[in-house]
Amino acid sequence: MSTFKTVQQHILEQERLHPEATGELTSLLGSLTVAAKIIARDVRRAGLTTNVLGQTQTVNVHGETVMKLDQFAEDTIQRVMGSSGMLAVMASEESQDVISISDERARGNYAMMYDPLDGSSNIDVNVSIGTIFSIHRKVTAGDDGGEADCLQPGRRQVAAGYFIYGSSTMMVYTTGRGVSGFTLDPGLGEFILSHDSIRTPDRGRIYSINEGNRNQWDEATVTYIDRLKSPGDGTREPYSLRYIGSLVADFHRNLLKGGIFLYPGPKPKLRLLYEAAPLAMVAEQAGGAATTGTTPVMDVEPASLHMRVPLIIGSRGDVDDYLECVDGDRRPGPDSAS
Ligand code: AHG
Ligand code: MN
Ligand code: MN
Repeated sequence: MSTFKTVQQHILEQERLHPEATGELTSLLGSLTVAAKIIARDVRRAGLTTNVLGQTQTVNVHGETVMKLDQFAEDTIQRVMGSSGMLAVMASEESQDVISISDERARGNYAMMYDPLDGSSNIDVNVSIGTIFSIHRKVTAGDDGGEADCLQPGRRQVAAGYFIYGSSTMMVYTTGRGVSGFTLDPGLGEFILSHDSIRTPDRGRIYSINEGNRNQWDEATVTYIDRLKSPGDGTREPYSLRYIGSLVADFHRNLLKGGIFLYPGPKPKLRLLYEAAPLAMVAEQAGGAATTGTTPVMDVEPASLHMRVPLIIGSRGDVDDYLECVDGDRRPGPDSAS
């Protein structure tokens, strides 16, 4: 019989694996699950309540129109996490500058970067969307956190993960000791362990990329994708294209089934701090890989809060095949026909 375990119990177990743990991270992650349950509740009835569908009159720092649910998710996370007592500073896709914790009594020792709602273009058409989070330990002196606490390389994350609001609501996270997934039981209001110790297959049969951007891809991407579609030597089947347009949903499917997601250069769209780096930690902790094409995503030094990077992420064998196309003209990996 599978183990019945809530995410709170799991987080506590993870805490015990870290001798230096103070319980603050446990409390922080617990607060985050509360924020996600509030967002999930409104996502579930988005079509029924007029206050969360459609666009606001606001354009964000990226020049994108902010959807009402983006704003709702942003306000919810700021409200819940701002009073968690565990954070010194936050940074959000929806906020140009860092978000300070105004109440001095509610400050803690961590910094959290987050994408409050990923996949905004899919909100009004009932396609899976998500929330992505990245947590670092505060590195600056004094109580108040700042940008320096946010601009840390992914390798230093103490926790990372995402919530996906799909056919069910799930939380997938890591604290550096593997990856596990939890499914929200709406009746209980609890995230229950459903995917213990996720390991992503070494290769998949799925590639996820916006083919409409083909004319903008760099040469390595063109070479790699063409080889996936027509392997030529007959020893392997072509891969299938699956692309939802919500990074969290595309990533989650490939994490479980195997495969590769690419948002390549030379005009990268995805942001390092709250999209690429947290998912890179999850991917690596599940046995996968994440690269910009030249550097492991986890090793990129952030230059600014909203810095964009090319993201090639997923099954290690598939990412390695891509890198062989970057390094030189070699056929992607051994036959993976199954
Ligand atoms: P967000 O909704 O947080 O802005 O993120 C959207 C991102 C990501 O979710 C997805 O993979 C990508 O945009 C899709 O971009 P294209 O529509 O250019 O393919
Ligand atoms: Mn996003
Ligand atoms: Mn977003």
